[in-house]
Amino acid sequence: MKKRPIIIDTDPGIDDAAALCIALRHPELDVKLLSTVAANVTVDKTTANALKLTQFLDVDVPVARGCAAPLLKTLEPSSHIHGESGMDGYEFPPLTRKPLERHSVEVMRKMIMESPEKVTLVPIATHTNIAILLRMYPEVMENIEEIVTMGGGVAGGNTTSAAEFNIYNDPHAAAIVFSSGVPVTMLGLNVTGRALLHMDGALKIRESGPVGEMLYGLFRFYRGGTLEAGLKIHDACAICYLVHPEFFTAEKRFIEVATEGPAAGATVMRSNLIKADDREPKTNVCMDIDSEKFEEWFVGELCK
Ligand code: RIB
Ligand code: CA
Repeated sequence: MKKRPIIIDTDPGIDDAAALCIALRHPELDVKLLSTVAANVTVDKTTANALKLTQFLDVDVPVARGCAAPLLKTLEPSSHIHGESGMDGYEFPPLTRKPLERHSVEVMRKMIMESPEKVTLVPIATHTNIAILLRMYPEVMENIEEIVTMGGGVAGGNTTSAAEFNIYNDPHAAAIVFSSGVPVTMLGLNVTGRALLHMDGALKIRESGPVGEMLYGLFRFYRGGTLEAGLKIHDACAICYLVHPEFFTAEKRFIEVATEGPAAGATVMRSNLIKADDREPKTNVCMDIDSEKFEEWFVGELCK
């Protein structure tokens, strides 16, 4: 089976960890690189966490350290959701792996330009690295298939009532990415907030083996909901979309990112009721998710 080349930009983060445990072992995906960024916790911690995961899974996928801060804003981490380490709830073995020497933006540029096939970028964190990549090396856009990102939302935020965390923490970077002209598919809170893991599924994952046991420990700590009401597995939606787009309903809409003021970080979608104007509906916005199929897929993948 032909594997799709992807680069994941990530800030592990417990929901990132679950998404990576699926992507790094999925038969349809060729993960070329994990690029890390400061968001949930500092970039030192997100880099260490990405390395902990590739080591724990024993997969040969490089990790490159990215930006330590947003373009303009001061970072507001979310250790209250993911713990001080960014992946609290499980004691990982001592880390023996190291990240690549070069900055992730440089590594992404080289990988994209040398890829015989177009590469899909999958940012599941702030868009700082991706924005700098597109601004410093616009030539990469020719060899990017699309950007499939967990971020934003069309019905309110989780960090403010208007803004979702990944966009809120670097709205300027997100504005660059969404307006770049590279095709963007947005998995916002309006769908990822309905991508839930419940207790039954979590217990099945725990019983499935060492990876499941590790993830169960992280899930028990994760403050993105509760196992009783459902844990919000935001980032796994981006991976799910890559291999099961049919679980989602998407529409091309015009999305603009607010970068200043009290609604900074909002991904503002123009209504279809407004007559067409020069603001072309370019962003592929996921408007609905089959939550049952998502949870069945998620549990099944992590029980493999
Ligand atoms: O709002 C959810 C997003 O913020 C997820 O990517 C989660 O990991 C945090 O980064
Ligand atoms: Ca994330």
